[in-house]
Amino acid sequence: MAAAMASKLMHAVQYDSYGGGASGLKHAEVPVPTPKKGDILLKLEAASLNPVDWKIQKGMFRPLLPRKFPHIPVTDVAGEVVEVGQGVQKFKPGDKVVAFLTHTVSGLAEFAAASESLTVARPPEVSAADGAGLPVAGLTAHQALTQAAGVKLDGSGQQKNILITAASGGVGQYAVQLAKLGNTHVTATCSARNIEFVKSLGADEVLDYKTPEGAALNSPSGRKYDAVVHCATGIPWSTFEPNLSANGKVIDLTPSPSAFATFALKKLTFSKKQLVPLFMSAKSENLDYLVKLVKEGKLKTVIDSKHPLSKAEDGWAKSIDGHATGKIIVEP
Ligand SMILES: NC(=O)c1ccc[n+]([C@@H]2O[C@H](COP(=O)([O-])OP(=O)(O)OC[C@H]3O[C@@H](n4cnc5c(N)ncnc54)[C@H](OP(=O)(O)O)[C@@H]3O)[C@@H](O)[C@H]2O)c1
Repeated sequence: MAAAMASKLMHAVQYDSYGGGASGLKHAEVPVPTPKKGDILLKLEAASLNPVDWKIQKGMFRPLLPRKFPHIPVTDVAGEVVEVGQGVQKFKPGDKVVAFLTHTVSGLAEFAAASESLTVARPPEVSAADGAGLPVAGLTAHQALTQAAGVKLDGSGQQKNILITAASGGVGQYAVQLAKLGNTHVTATCSARNIEFVKSLGADEVLDYKTPEGAALNSPSGRKYDAVVHCATGIPWSTFEPNLSANGKVIDLTPSPSAFATFALKKLTFSKKQLVPLFMSAKSENLDYLVKLVKEGKLKTVIDSKHPLSKAEDGWAKSIDGHATGKIIVEP
C-alpha cells in the first residue's frame, strides 16, 4: 500500500515565492506524501484557512516559514486515514480524524501526512468541515480563555466579565461559545451586520465596533472586563485600560511592537492590569476536548464559505480580505 500511494500524484495548491496573495497560488500535481515514523497519511475531506496561512506567504514569518519553496500551505484538516507510518498506535486505515499539521506539511491538497501526536478521532456526528475549523481557531480560543484568562469551561469558577473583540471571526466565534460554557458574562465586538449572529452564539451584549461607543469598548451594562480576548487588531492599550477591572488582562492574539512594549512596561512596573501576548501551542487533548464538545452539540463551527480545492484561491482572497463570518473551508 505504502509503495502504491507514494508513486501516485495528487492535486495540490502551492506557492513558490513570498507575496502574490491569491494569485500567487498555483495548482500542481505533486507526489502523495509518504508517512514517516509516527505519521499517518490522510485522504483529506476538508481544510480550513487561518490568517496565519497568508501571513506566512506574505513573508511575516521569514526566515523561519515556509521552510522551503514551493510550499503547500494550511494546517487545519479533517480526513480519513489511508496509511500509517511505523510505530503508529492510535489510528488505522478507515479512521476519520481531525489534525493540526504544523507548517512543514500541508493541507491544501488531496492527501497530507499528519503527526499521530496532533491528530484526534472524529466521531460521525462531527462533519469534516466542522472538524477542520477547530485546530488553530478553536485551540487559540480555548487557550486564551482557560490558560490566559483562567476561565473554567465546566462553569465551576467565579463569574468573570470577558470582552471578545472581532467575535464574528474564526477565533472569536469559538471564543464566545466557549466563554459562555464557562459561565462568564460576554461583551463582544463586531460590525452591525453581525450583531444578531454574535448574540445567537451567546454573547450577552454586543458593540458595533464602527460606532464611537463600540470603538471606546465601553460595556453597555457598565461592566469592567476581567479579561479581553483580543482577536481584532489596531486597538491601543489606552482604549482598553479604562475598561479593565483592577486585575484585568488583555490577551492579544496579534501583538504589535507597541503591544510588546506595553507587555514589558506592565511587567516591569508590577501593574495589576496586564497585556499578555498569546501564541497558540497545539495540544491534542485540547483538540480532542473541542471535537467532543462539537459532538455533544455544545460547540459549533460557524462556516463563512466553502470552496472546492480547484478554487482554493477564492477562499484565500476571502481570508486576506478580513471580513469572514466564521471559518473559510476548502474541500478537495
Ligand atoms: N497568536 C495566535 O496564536 C493566533 C492564533 C489564531 C489567530 N491569530 C490572529 O488572530 C486574529 C483573528 O483571527 P481570526 O481567524 O479570527 O480572523 P478572521 O476570521 O479573518 O477575522 C475576521 C473577522 O474579524 C472582524 N473584524 C475585523 N476587524 C475588526 C474590529 N476592529 N473589531 C471587531 N471585529 C473586527 C471582521 O468583521 P467585519 O467583516 O464585520 O469587519 C470578521 O468577521 C488574526 O490576526 C490572526 O492572525 C493569532
